[in-house]
Amino acid sequence: MRVPFIAGNWKMHKTIEEAVALAKELVAKVRDNVQKKVMIAPPFTALYAVSSVLKGSAVFLGAQNMAAAEKGAHTGEISVHMLKDVGVSYVIIGHSERRHVYGENDQLINKKVKLALSKDLNVILCVGETLEERERGIAEKVVEEQLVNGLQGVESKELTFVTIAYEPVWAIGTGKTATPEDADAMHVYIRKVITNLYDKAAAAVLTIQYGGSVKPNNIKELMAKDNIDGALVGGASLESDTFLPIIQFNNGDAE
Ligand code: 13P
Repeated sequence: MRVPFIAGNWKMHKTIEEAVALAKELVAKVRDNVQKKVMIAPPFTALYAVSSVLKGSAVFLGAQNMAAAEKGAHTGEISVHMLKDVGVSYVIIGHSERRHVYGENDQLINKKVKLALSKDLNVILCVGETLEERERGIAEKVVEEQLVNGLQGVESKELTFVTIAYEPVWAIGTGKTATPEDADAMHVYIRKVITNLYDKAAAAVLTIQYGGSVKPNNIKELMAKDNIDGALVGGASLESDTFLPIIQFNNGDAE
């Protein structure tokens, strides 16, 4: 069974004080619940402070990126050991902003994925096509390449620590959501690629999140789709007013 996984990517927002305040609100409202997994990824500067707020809670701590190298002369980078040291258990790798704004390619992303997994950090690997790629009819090909390259050398036992986030670039921060049908179709395709790379069983248990303008008013219909197992939420994860209803999309359960 795939446990719904709702994650908030706070991107380059929030001071330590603001991050701690929101984390506290979430911890108070999100009770330990086997029916759902919740994670937040504050900016690096707030990780340490937020980590102590989340300790013993049902909310996992995530980071938004990490270095491909383990240590050494890498000015401005943050290592896997540093992330683990502050209590991070998930790292987002290959976000489209890293790919398209900061020029990260599949090879670099693959290095990061393998390093994180080798140090027992859970990975959220982001994939997704641009609008131009979708219009040219190559969305599936692009996503397939990102998966094949990004997961190169990742063994099937390690894949259980990987979540895939399908984030069509044209839907991020634009207010344009992929229709639940389009998103689900790509998730089906992702499972097909994973079946070819690994096997059917691996594909069946893989958690695939959708990301791109997820809001309280569309989470329910997205999550109703068979192959959408969660959400990676940007803008709407920055306030409890919008993030809590997303976490509690199926209100009436234990929360
Ligand atoms: P928005 O929810 O703001 O579109 O961002 C999505 C995203 O990039 C999450 O990683």
